[in-house]
Amino acid sequence: MGDRLKGEVAIVTGAAAGIGQAFSVAMAAEGASLVLADLVNADETVAKIEAASGKAIAIIADVTDEAAMTSMASVAIEAFGKIDILVNNAGIYPLKSIEDTDLDTWHRIIGINLTGTFLATRAVVPSMKQAGKGKIVNISSGTFFMGTPGASAYVATKGAVIGMARSLASELGDDGIQVNCIAPGLTTTPGVTGGIGNEMRDAVVTMQSVKRREVPEDMVGALLFLTSSDSDFMTGQVMLVDGGAANN
Ligand SMILES: NC(=O)c1ccc[n+]([C@@H]2O[C@H](COP(=O)([O-])OP(=O)(O)OC[C@H]3O[C@@H](n4cnc5c(N)ncnc54)[C@H](O)[C@@H]3O)[C@@H](O)[C@H]2O)c1
Repeated sequence: MGDRLKGEVAIVTGAAAGIGQAFSVAMAAEGASLVLADLVNADETVAKIEAASGKAIAIIADVTDEAAMTSMASVAIEAFGKIDILVNNAGIYPLKSIEDTDLDTWHRIIGINLTGTFLATRAVVPSMKQAGKGKIVNISSGTFFMGTPGASAYVATKGAVIGMARSLASELGDDGIQVNCIAPGLTTTPGVTGGIGNEMRDAVVTMQSVKRREVPEDMVGALLFLTSSDSDFMTGQVMLVDGGAANN
């Protein structure tokens, strides 16, 4: 246990599994109290946090549901008194060519990855403004920098959350709120192992400078930097944590 986030209150969307779970556990281990929002039960994440003597509350909340995002912010304030950190992590990544992306699929990807980021952010900003401080981290993707084919709707959302962060960084700077992004490379999570085969995952490793599969813990250093006072003079930026894939 460290104390880089001692006394801080953090909300993580999509916290039941994968990157969101690892990020939640890591922030709790640094002293933050967590609200874990997910479509599915995040009890496993709560158990991991409590096993390390941390504090967390899990709520079922769909990021596309405006009322659920408002109530997510209320839960954090009622339970812990404030909101210091929001990690916009919930996301889906169906791999589809442009011809196979029907309008419903397009709306679903935009709805969760982009509108969800908007709704969660809008829900927390008033209390961050009132406190005169806040850290928002949007989870983008290395695919935006690589122009990965067969995923144009997804890649569009992952560029859009960078655009949103850059604009909000300017808009909210005077309120003491920093808005940055982490762009992961292909990372082993339940979402990836359920949808992306070994062959593609091996192919990505060959594109990286660091020749092994990325795991969520590889991004914890970037996350703790962007959610702690270490990054107080940095906003509107993207940390690409992908083993060098987009560089090659
Ligand atoms: N894993 C990767 O390779 C990778 C690479 C780049 C970016 N990302 C991004 O990182 C984030 C997390 O990815 P992951 O691989 O950990 O995913 P994952 O599928 O393993 O976990 C995502 C979590 O989000 C939740 N979720 C999905 N829709 C939701 C909604 N509408 N409301 C609330 N929660 C919802 C799921 O229930 C799940 O618990 C996503 O935004 C993804 O686009 C992942």
